[in-house]
Amino acid sequence: MKSLVFAANWKMNQAPADAALFMRTFVGQYARQTDRRVLFFPPALSLHSVVEAIHDRADLQAGVQNIHWEDSGAFTGEISAGLARGAGARFVLIGHSERRHLFGETEADTAKKVAAALKAGLTPVICVGETLPEREAGETLRVIRRQLRAALEGQEAGVVAGVLIAYEPVWAIGTGRTATPQDAAEAHAALKTELRALGGERSGAVPVLYGGSVNRANVAGLLAVEDVDGVLVGGASLDAEQWLAIVRS
Ligand code: PGA
Repeated sequence: MKSLVFAANWKMNQAPADAALFMRTFVGQYARQTDRRVLFFPPALSLHSVVEAIHDRADLQAGVQNIHWEDSGAFTGEISAGLARGAGARFVLIGHSERRHLFGETEADTAKKVAAALKAGLTPVICVGETLPEREAGETLRVIRRQLRAALEGQEAGVVAGVLIAYEPVWAIGTGRTATPQDAAEAHAALKTELRALGGERSGAVPVLYGGSVNRANVAGLLAVEDVDGVLVGGASLDAEQWLAIVRS
């Protein structure tokens, strides 16, 4: 049986009080299952509410949605990996498509953020995905391999086994369109091959999550795909009942 990761990306939603209420409902109703971990990526301001709610549950963990690559200093509005770690985060999303496409994050930036995360003891969840024009041009696999290599640029082969990957086709995020299990199978297999090439055989076990309009109706079909090791969920993770249904699937 594979080991699964369910990650909730709340984006710019859930104030501290809402996050606390959500987590009370979730933790009260979700019993630990040995084959899965559940990760929460609240807005940084609500991280404390999540961390407090999960403190005695090793199967539930929290992360931040973004970091700056510097350790500290005059970077108004930014959060370092060390600050996130100190506030209880154990994971960080890096290179989410909204960071890349709305905020101009470059592939070089993702590499600096991965390095900063690893240095501070945060596990990076490296997000990759092609745009619709890239898919239509038959560039999907080339683009996602390039994004993966770029994010891990400069890292020793030995660290590759310690990251997580999320494949999120840009055209599927928040649009209601999901990749078919066939599309996901092809992309995930290509990412696993690339991970082995970068980090050796052990890195073939790096979890590769699928993201993009995942919901309670389509999650089982996606998880049935051999190389899909979990899901990264935005919209459908905001409602505790729907999120419970997803993590129980
Ligand atoms: P979505 O977002 O589930 O709302 O499509 C996924 C993501 O951006 O991580």
